[in-house]
Amino acid sequence: MGNLADKQIIVGVTGGIAAYKTAELVRQLRRAGAQVRVVMTAAAQAFVTPLSFQALSGHRVYCDMLDTEHESAMGHIELARWAHCLLIAPASADFIARIAHGHANDLLSTLCLATPADLFIAPAMNQQMWRNAAVQDNIDILKKRNLRILGPAEGEQACGDTGPGRMQEPFELLEALSLASASESPLQDCKVLITAGPTQEPIDPVRFISNRSSGKMGYALAQAMRDRGAQVVLVSGPVSRPPPPGIDVIAVRTAEEMYQAVIQALAGVNIFIGSAAVADYTPAQQYAEKIKKNGSVLELDLRPTKDILGSVATSAAPPFTVGFAAETTQLEKYARGKLENKQIDMIAANQVGTGRGGFYSDENSLLVIWKGGSQVFAMQNKVSLAQRLADLIVERYDEHKISGSL
Ligand SMILES: Cc1cc2nc3c(=O)[nH]c(=O)nc-3n(C[C@H](O)[C@H](O)[C@H](O)COP(=O)(O)O)c2cc1C
Repeated sequence: MGNLADKQIIVGVTGGIAAYKTAELVRQLRRAGAQVRVVMTAAAQAFVTPLSFQALSGHRVYCDMLDTEHESAMGHIELARWAHCLLIAPASADFIARIAHGHANDLLSTLCLATPADLFIAPAMNQQMWRNAAVQDNIDILKKRNLRILGPAEGEQACGDTGPGRMQEPFELLEALSLASASESPLQDCKVLITAGPTQEPIDPVRFISNRSSGKMGYALAQAMRDRGAQVVLVSGPVSRPPPPGIDVIAVRTAEEMYQAVIQALAGVNIFIGSAAVADYTPAQQYAEKIKKNGSVLELDLRPTKDILGSVATSAAPPFTVGFAAETTQLEKYARGKLENKQIDMIAANQVGTGRGGFYSDENSLLVIWKGGSQVFAMQNKVSLAQRLADLIVERYDEHKISGSL
């Protein structure tokens, strides 16, 4: 991870309900050693007072371009040059439109035009606003100009809606700035193949056998590996989440399709992470027509599916292979067994069925085991858990390369 000590960061705050979260972000940036100057739009000041940001940043807050006092101290051009990076959090739909079209009608939009620094945008708005074609067109314009768009996250919103549009959490924004400030990406020139989500094993045209996996952990891991500079291919079972930007997604349905997709994508892969909850068994026969209920017992013949993880680990030129284990009992014993039986390099085990964490939850805890070591990650949000696990995978992968076992 990059070091934010003495990084000179402008945090731009626009008029959105998420502005209160930016106060915590400023606190965390200062804690990480960054020098922070806060610039607020007029609308932002209706949500959080400049005094709060002054106290948290330790400096006067910049609110007005036509301010003779500020212009005589650090004028807007000097401020634009001072910054190593400029983060707009939250970025309102209106502000995104203004910078997409080159407006300079207030201090913050003027700084965006005048700064040579890297620009980061953390959009935050109602899900319907975010989905609006005008907003999406403006985001596309910014992406083409290589501005970094952080999020938005999905979930429950202040207005009561659920969907995409929540500002990323302060720790995620801090992480993104920190990674961007790293002098080099640890996984540059690395190809990472990840499986995520459940599989669906068809019984007849309307029924299938599946499991509770939501794909949250695998998708968060794909983003974490991408943030570390890897070229990421994600083989995903059916999930209800949008593909992460900057990642090649191969959509599959059954365990057999996932196996075929993985084997085909395996050439040149340096790290393989099998986080999908692949069905262990599939119906031996798929009925062409819907099975009718006739009151008698129905028996299904199930046959084992192919072992994706084991096949990758024992392939001709195996990548550094990381597996996942979800267990309801004897977590460590089963995880160690899987590590050895499948000859993989690392296993991330999580306890399921305890009420907290596991499938569908936003949070999880992990026991990660490799030959010669282990580490416990306490219960936390899956996004931050994925970042911690990604750091550990990079560390162990480097170790393997050095020890010549790859
Ligand atoms: C209570 C309230 C909450 C708002 N929240 C948001 C929001 O989350 N995102 C957004 O894009 N606009 C939001 N708006 C609308 C913006 O404040 C408005 O578009 C404003 O002009 C943005 O100005 P600025 O971009 O200069 O800060 C909200 C308005 C109100 C009254």
